[in-house]
Order: sequence, then C-alpha cells, then structure tokens
Amino acid sequence: MPYFNWTPEMAIGLARIDDDHKVLVAIMNRLFDNLETDQDDETMEQSFKALVRYTEIHFGREEAVLSVVNYPDLSSHRDDHNLFIKDINQMQKEFGDSTSRKEKTKLLDYLKNWLTNHIMIDDMAYKSFIIDNPKAAKASMVFSSVELWTQR
Ligand code: FEO
Repeated sequence: MPYFNWTPEMAIGLARIDDDHKVLVAIMNRLFDNLETDQDDETMEQSFKALVRYTEIHFGREEAVLSVVNYPDLSSHRDDHNLFIKDINQMQKEFGDSTSRKEKTKLLDYLKNWLTNHIMIDDMAYKSFIIDNPKAAKASMVFSSVELWTQR
C-alpha cells in the first residue's frame, strides 16, 4: 500500500494536469520510501529537490492554462501556489535539519495534506473552465517543463 494514493476522485479532467498531480504523488511516495528504508541525507535531499522543482513546473503549467481560459480566480489561485512554494522551500530546509524520521514524516504529512486539499478544493473549482476546452488543452501542452519552471 503506497503512502499516498492518487484516486479517480482527484481527476481534474485534463491529462497533463492530472499527470502532473500523479507525478507529485509519486515523488512524495519516493520520499516516504526513502524515509522508511533509511536512505542517506543526500538521497532524501535529491527527492525533496525533485518535489520542489516539479511543483514549480506544475504550477507554471496550471497557471498558463488558467490564464488562457480567463479563469476569474486565477489571481488568488496563484497566490496560493506562491505561498506553498514559499512553505515548501522552508520545509526543504527543515527536512534537511530534522534528525528524526518522525519529524521528517510530519513534514511530509503536511505536504501530502496540502496537496490533497488543494486538488480537491481549489483545483476542482476551475474544472468546469477547462473541461472540453481546446484552448486549455493546447496551453497545457504548449510549454516544455523547463520553460514552465524558468518562468516562475
Ligand atoms: Fe494543481 Fe493548483 O495546483
């Protein structure tokens, strides 16, 4: 049983966005496995770094999509993303400084809960704006991951 399960209820309905969410879930599972198997600090640092980078890529893609469909709550959605980026960067440091598995797991639990709530509430709120919308589908594929990451 994985630590974090992506479930069909979490589907937004746009493949690239859903795939991004699945990647974030997978990276969190990797981090949890790192903890469970007592991997060294460097391995965990790499996994955490991947989580931060991919979160930035995903947010960039999502904001590009929401922008082309003129999503009215884009500004507050972006604020939530930016706040989370700030939090996750702080947590990356705290994760590195934590000496116990319990402390690290607590930080990971926070990230898992944040992502679950964000997808189920905030992301779901834009679903009707992007579903069956060719502009949204095109925007979701237009940028490479590197471009999205460097834009943020
Ligand atoms: Fe899928 Fe708003 O993050």
